[in-house]
Amino acid sequence: MSENVDLLIHSAGQLCVVPAHDGGPQRGAALGDLGLIANGAIAARDGRVIAIGQSEDLRARFRAESEIDAGGRCVLPGFVDPHTHLPWVGDRAGEFEQRLAGATYMEIMNAGGGIMSTVRNTRQASVDKLVADNLPRLARMLRHGTTSAEAKTGYGLDTATEIKQLDAIAALAAIQPIELAATFLPAHAVPEEYRGDTEGYVGLIIEEMLPAGAAWMREQGNPMFCDVFCEDGVFDLDQTRRILTAAAALGYRLKVHADEFVGLGGTKLAVELGATSADHLVMTPEADISALGRGDTVAVGLPGTPFGLAHTEYTPAKAILAAGGALALATDLNPGTTWCESMQMVIALACRYMGLTQAQAIAAATLNAAFAIGRGHEVGSLMPGYQADILILDVADYRQVGYRYGTNLVQTVIKRGAVV
Ligand code: NIG
Ligand code: FE
Repeated sequence: MSENVDLLIHSAGQLCVVPAHDGGPQRGAALGDLGLIANGAIAARDGRVIAIGQSEDLRARFRAESEIDAGGRCVLPGFVDPHTHLPWVGDRAGEFEQRLAGATYMEIMNAGGGIMSTVRNTRQASVDKLVADNLPRLARMLRHGTTSAEAKTGYGLDTATEIKQLDAIAALAAIQPIELAATFLPAHAVPEEYRGDTEGYVGLIIEEMLPAGAAWMREQGNPMFCDVFCEDGVFDLDQTRRILTAAAALGYRLKVHADEFVGLGGTKLAVELGATSADHLVMTPEADISALGRGDTVAVGLPGTPFGLAHTEYTPAKAILAAGGALALATDLNPGTTWCESMQMVIALACRYMGLTQAQAIAAATLNAAFAIGRGHEVGSLMPGYQADILILDVADYRQVGYRYGTNLVQTVIKRGAVV
């Protein structure tokens, strides 16, 4: 007697399961366990994986409403992009041109451009405009294999616009297949109105903005993150600590933008506060790297950012892994430093500039990336019980991922058991 399922994919040359380790991410030297099954198959029902194994076995066990012959291709979990700055309005191609002529990112920001120029556009936009402009970006992410992502505010920097960005994230999550985890980031920059008065703006964040975001979070009934751009000339370590401590007390989970340009101790603080992730981690001091090995905070490398800025320093992945840290990858998709919608491109950069193998980069972009948004028990792996978010690649060997770049290797994207 065969059992009914909704979907059966069989004849995968390689099925990459990417198993969790002790129910957690793949840490340190253990990163890169793809749990490969040759001639693999996967069965799904009600949007979840119910079995994985050999094609012959699963074809004998299950009768599927829809059957896909993977034809020897490689099958892996949908990518999770745990750090994006969606949604925003406008572009900064002119600033890129200025940077090509020698201006630095921080110089442009301090002259009133940078994040503030996107803030001006975003403040003027309606929720409908935010949705319309960002929907095609999500569609491109999906085509390149991203099935879950994080989305941040941070282009409002006033209470009303920050909440408007949250409304746009919720609206976007409702009308397209990529699941979105929301992050509240009023501490992305100091707005024009508070120029020279960072403390005044920190006060506004703590007294007014965080409570408004927390009320929105309770209405939605979903968990939400609070993030801070902890950086020289933006929010210092003490301000970051005060904002995150206030956020934790209001029920937010925590993230930190740390060590993008200067290592201020933001990563160590993230570990100390039990943050879900610490992101960027380019100029990370040694003490902060060893802290990652002791805590549960996931280190998120964003190699698209130094690449986008034409910088030469990247996240010290090998040191983080040697310390026993859990490493994930994300795009950092934003209009300033790196407009990249493809996790495949991020994997290609991580292999070259962070020294990861293809297998390590794939695990960092799936299972570990899911843990970086607190979803590691639901998505990022194809173990039974996980959501059936599945990619069928155009190639037979997972080692083509990262090796090749600039073309999309994803043939079919499946979200919750349905081809999208
Ligand atoms: O992660 N560093 C701060 N935030 C972004 C850039 C945002 C922007 O320039 O609009 C980043 O690189
Ligand atoms: Fe970022």
